[in-house]
Amino acid sequence: MTKQLIVANWKNHPDSLAEAVEILDSADKYLGSLSEAERFGLIFCPPFVFTEEVGKILKTSHLEHQAELGAQDISIDDKTALTGEVSGSMLCKLGVGYVIVGHSERRWKLNESNETVNKKLKAVLRNEMVPIVCIGERERDFSAEGEPASGWKDFIKKQVEATFAGLSADEVTRCIIAYEPVWAISTTPGARSDTPESAAESIFIIKEVLSKTYNLKPKTYLYGGSITSANAREFLQNNQFDGVLVGGASVNKEEFVKILATVSKIL
Ligand code: 13P
Repeated sequence: MTKQLIVANWKNHPDSLAEAVEILDSADKYLGSLSEAERFGLIFCPPFVFTEEVGKILKTSHLEHQAELGAQDISIDDKTALTGEVSGSMLCKLGVGYVIVGHSERRWKLNESNETVNKKLKAVLRNEMVPIVCIGERERDFSAEGEPASGWKDFIKKQVEATFAGLSADEVTRCIIAYEPVWAISTTPGARSDTPESAAESIFIIKEVLSKTYNLKPKTYLYGGSITSANAREFLQNNQFDGVLVGGASVNKEEFVKILATVSKIL
């Protein structure tokens, strides 16, 4: 099995740096108990205000060489004045290696269009970081018989085409893709977790669009949406996924360590 990847998207949590340090301490202790064979990839994406401090902590103890630094957003432009934005070159200087783009909370709650996501994706690549590109439908439509109808598939296809528009095959292969159906994200009202089989179908659609357009595929696909220690195993064992993108459970230090334990045990 290839090395699994766990990405912790802290969103706008925790409330204080002290709590962030506690999460990292717990992860550090757990990582210290692993043998070489049990290790996996781990990326922390803290809010901007903690980026520098988290970056320093990730260079210490067992986190060093076992965990990397990510960010949750990037400015579309490196030079133009844009109040409130954080540029790619700033992130690079803090040691950020990965940036989440196209997260559904930004697409739906902050009205970020495919065009903006595409510009942010290009900004990440231009600054030689790795984009973690989120793709996902807001709803699954159902037929009168209760079977999922096909509208969501077209939605995913169009979102993938628009998100990756204008990228070279080489650039697409540098991306990590995260399939995150909005209806399965823990904070969506009435959220229900997806199943690995149905999520794998979506991954198949994404792969199909990218391979048709670029004749190439990105190497890493993640699933995100209500991942906990109770369901991480089933997603990680499905061979369509190379890892998981964890939101709420990644800021609960006990629960997050349980997720890490799940990964190390199935390797
Ligand atoms: P939850 O794990 O809280 O459902 O969030 C998923 C997500 O949005 C990660 O980016």
